[in-house]
Amino acid sequence: MTSLTIHPAAAPLQGAVRLSGDKSLSHRAALFAVLTQGESRIANFLDAGVTRPLLSALHELGVPWHLEGDVLHVTGRGLHGLPQPPHPPTLYCGHSATTMRLLAGFLAAAGMPAVLDGSPGLRRRPMRRITDPLRRMGVPISDTDGHAPLTLHPRPADHPLHGLTHHLAVASAQVKTALLLAALAADSPTTIVEPGPSRDHTERLFRAMGLRLEQPAPRTVRLVPPIPAELPPLRLTLPGDISSAAFLLAAALVVPGSQITLQRVLLNPTRTGFLDALQRMGAQVTITPRGETYGEPFGDITVAYTPDLHGITVRGDLVVRMVDEFPAFAIVAAAAQGETVVQDAEELRHKESDRIAAIVSRLQALGVEAQALPDGFRIVGGRPWHGAQLASGGDHRIAMAFAVAGLAAQTPITITDADIITQSFPTFASVLQTLGATVT
Ligand code: S3P
Repeated sequence: MTSLTIHPAAAPLQGAVRLSGDKSLSHRAALFAVLTQGESRIANFLDAGVTRPLLSALHELGVPWHLEGDVLHVTGRGLHGLPQPPHPPTLYCGHSATTMRLLAGFLAAAGMPAVLDGSPGLRRRPMRRITDPLRRMGVPISDTDGHAPLTLHPRPADHPLHGLTHHLAVASAQVKTALLLAALAADSPTTIVEPGPSRDHTERLFRAMGLRLEQPAPRTVRLVPPIPAELPPLRLTLPGDISSAAFLLAAALVVPGSQITLQRVLLNPTRTGFLDALQRMGAQVTITPRGETYGEPFGDITVAYTPDLHGITVRGDLVVRMVDEFPAFAIVAAAAQGETVVQDAEELRHKESDRIAAIVSRLQALGVEAQALPDGFRIVGGRPWHGAQLASGGDHRIAMAFAVAGLAAQTPITITDADIITQSFPTFASVLQTLGATVT
């Protein structure tokens, strides 16, 4: 297990960076390519800890794929074209809840028995939110007290899946996607109603692929089966990961004099909440749209150090639109003058770690005034903080956020068990160094 030491920045961060493909898009493009007929070509694919288990699972399922540099080639066989293995495979999803939840929906549609398991951390994540509605659709799936391992039992050929109307208790794109995937094999439409605007990549990609998706009401999506007999393979270059970009944006905002540009980053409005929050804090953020691919807008983001950031309150839909960005946001909040409050964010307790507890305890260890709330946290910012040795806690985003905090600390910050960063942003330390940071 390696540790990472980040030294207080001696000079402004400067430069332009192009990031690997967005994590959510990488997962979806790799998996949805299997639904098509022929070879898909997915450029700027994110080759990282969270996507490797999905690729390994595809291999186990007999789906040919190979990586040529950052270009992923996947040979699709259609939903019902997977070879039947002699025994149900055990598919190891590592730390990736996206892999587990999306595979559950996909295998349900394909009628493929399998066991889905993962790391101890993944075994702690809630799974009843997918297994309950999948069972209502007729999927023979069982969980282990609401957690992984999940078992998809064989489904007799004369047991079709049924569409359903499902109201999500918590806005979740993983749950929505699992159900939309299963819905591909149902004998009637499936309608999903969400309490908030979770990321809509599946909807955009499905539509671009030629699947029938309707929006009968706000926050409501309906998939109308059947899946067309042949879907054309995917040919796209994935926009950069906006959730990885968040750490670099935060870094530029806490190091005086910095100005950086992140090129061709995903700008889907269900993912840009962090940019909105930064602008509300008074940050100098400029967004230049560059285009759209498979319904996904992308563009360049330039951010300049802003000395007079101020605290804000974040709640409601904005929480959903920046759900992965709270660790990075907390560091900006610690640098901003006054109080920042996050509410309606209880879901943060169910991510790779309890992020409310993880953020607050580490800020306190740096000497920042911070307090956990049942559904969020409160930070009083604008005062200097000192260095410390902090554990990643097995959470890649906690590790990266507090590495960024080291750039603005009075003394270095060391993150222990920092390998976890390779889950989503393997080049994090080298990109920071390219921009001028000292990382050892
Ligand atoms: C993701 C959805 C989000 C997010 C995760 C990736 C996805 O989770 O936190 O990193 O790709 O669908 P939820 O759906 O649980 O909110």
